[in-house]
Amino acid sequence: MRVLVTGGCGYIGTHTVLQLVTAGHDVVVVDDFSNASPAVIPRLEELADRPIPVHRFTLEDRARTDHLLATERVDAVIHFAGFKAVGESVAHPISYYRNNIGATLSLLEAMSAHDVHRLVFSSSATVYGADATPPFTEDLPTSATNPYGWTKVMIEQIMRDLAVSDPQWRIALLRYFNPVGAHPSGRIGEDPSGIPNNLLPFIAQVAVGRRDRLLIFGDDYDTVDGTGVRDFIHVDDLALGHVAALEALGHRDEAVNTWNLGTGQGTSVRQLLRAFEKACGRELPYAVAPRRPGDIATSYADPTRAHRDLRWEATRSIDDICASAWAWQSANPHGYQA
Ligand code: UFG
Repeated sequence: MRVLVTGGCGYIGTHTVLQLVTAGHDVVVVDDFSNASPAVIPRLEELADRPIPVHRFTLEDRARTDHLLATERVDAVIHFAGFKAVGESVAHPISYYRNNIGATLSLLEAMSAHDVHRLVFSSSATVYGADATPPFTEDLPTSATNPYGWTKVMIEQIMRDLAVSDPQWRIALLRYFNPVGAHPSGRIGEDPSGIPNNLLPFIAQVAVGRRDRLLIFGDDYDTVDGTGVRDFIHVDDLALGHVAALEALGHRDEAVNTWNLGTGQGTSVRQLLRAFEKACGRELPYAVAPRRPGDIATSYADPTRAHRDLRWEATRSIDDICASAWAWQSANPHGYQA
């Protein structure tokens, strides 16, 4: 297939582009670089061993999106592009709704106009809200606790409504748990701008000396060691889940398919810290701080449906995750910035 990857220069996008190429697909990328670096492109091309066409604009630009779909004859779209920082979404809700929903509407209109009906969407386990009991199954009701989460809930609903209106659509809603780690080459990885919101990039930046110490947000949860528990999934496993979903859509009867992409295993903040210390070969400074508002104690997937329907399963371990994240961060202490 020839696949348009929106947000294809971001963290999950780049890893997915590589797995698509490895699986024999052709890739076209669109990215506005609002949260990605153009420096990733030569690295991606070197790893893929071929040129990767990259278009630089925002999907909110309906005319350019339409032109892209008219000129690049793609068979399917994987839609990653979107803002993703929870705290920022609370501070700037309108910009989150405008960017995430506006871009998606523009993309869906252009896809309809050019007869492209196969779509994989980057959703999140955040749609399970704050009250569900893990393991999370796909048929739980959806809700959210912040504007970022609501954009995922709303976009899922928009896609379900669209599929009812036109039976040609085949859509995968992929609900990610906690994507972490990097390509084993150490050439591409997660490069958050500013202070990392997420745990693993923060730990990695402590390990290279960019941050003094990790703050553990709460050690009085009802969990194995009092710290939060999450389902950390290697980004290459996640990327392979996208390839499996994309290919499966070709023979699905259901117009909309919702799949959790997680390992089904919970790992605590302290356990992840210890695994990273093993990978980088030294102890890392940390302090315990109050709970972070909005956090839940435990989140992990029930990945049974993806195993059954996609014959996909996460295979990389927490040690693989930490080794690859350390390979990336130690070789690129300041990310893509030289
Ligand atoms: N944590 C710390 N210190 C830090 C950062 C995080 O102790 O500096 C803890 C958090 O309190 C939590 C765990 O590490 O217990 C994981 O936190 P992350 O921010 O890495 O991940 P979340 O599970 O909070 O958020 C992720 C995604 C969101 C998504 C959410 C729910 O980043 O986009 O999962 O699916 F909405």
